[in-house]
Amino acid sequence: MSDELQEQRERILDGWARVAGGWGRQADRSQVAAMPVSEWMLAHAAPVPGERVLELAAGPGDTGFMAARMVAPDGVLISSDATAAMLEVARARAAEHGITNVEFRQLQLEWIDLPAASVDAVLCRWGVMLVIDPGAALRECRRVLKPGGRLAMAVWDLPQENPWATLIQRVLVELGHAEPAPQGGPGMFALSHPGLLEEMLAQAGFVEVECEPVAITRRYGSVGDWIGETLDHSGQFAAVWRELDSEGRQSVRDWLTEAVSDYVSPEGEIELPGSSLAALAQA
Ligand SMILES: C[S@@+](CC[C@H](N)C(=O)[O-])C[C@H]1O[C@@H](n2cnc3c(N)ncnc32)[C@H](O)[C@@H]1O
Repeated sequence: MSDELQEQRERILDGWARVAGGWGRQADRSQVAAMPVSEWMLAHAAPVPGERVLELAAGPGDTGFMAARMVAPDGVLISSDATAAMLEVARARAAEHGITNVEFRQLQLEWIDLPAASVDAVLCRWGVMLVIDPGAALRECRRVLKPGGRLAMAVWDLPQENPWATLIQRVLVELGHAEPAPQGGPGMFALSHPGLLEEMLAQAGFVEVECEPVAITRRYGSVGDWIGETLDHSGQFAAVWRELDSEGRQSVRDWLTEAVSDYVSPEGEIELPGSSLAALAQA
């Protein structure tokens, strides 16, 4: 592997480690918004008691914890993430939720350090599009699955379907605080192109591939509330925010307030739509 790629991988993971605390603080609220995607994944992967389920790029770990309940009492969840800091967040949440049939492992999506054919189901919500070689990650998922095992995963749909995320990126660019995201390479929308995920799953050797959009809604009491959540989730946004004076911060709030005017409910809540692509595939 080239030094450049290795440095890029380390930079990406370092970025995730830095926001682990924020993801932990926001985990309850994020899971409320993300629940339709977790529910889709678990309804389709359908883990049953006694099975061994692996969650990859688990972050705070919630989708896996739902699976842990489904495979109990004898089944086991392996909750994993590439960063130790995220694993600590997941460990604390498992204790909070009383989940005991779980093992924690620091695992990389592109090199899953588990034996071949060792798990019945793999779950990965919003992880595969973040890696440099998503094809390798999917091949690794298939390798660790037993024959006939199920992969249930989700990536983000097209940018225009996800204003909750793109407006935050646009405000920084339009006010001159950030460069537009580079085209290509890993990132939130890297696998959003219609048909791409199905094609990559088939190329990785999966069969019976199905993929469909799942809608989510992110709700905020105010623009300040939305900014607060974003400061916890996005290292890039937090870095810009730290450098802004009060006038600069106000111009960000004003831009976002104008941008969300079409998404304010009669009760005054901001309801931002989003869409995820959820997929089921068989090894
Ligand atoms: C967008 S968060 C999603 C977290 C969680 N799955 C969820 O749905 O809330 C992405 C997670 O992927 C992890 N991650 C990033 N690159 C990874 C890699 N190469 N291998 C495994 N995990 C990775 C990050 O540490 C982070 O926890």
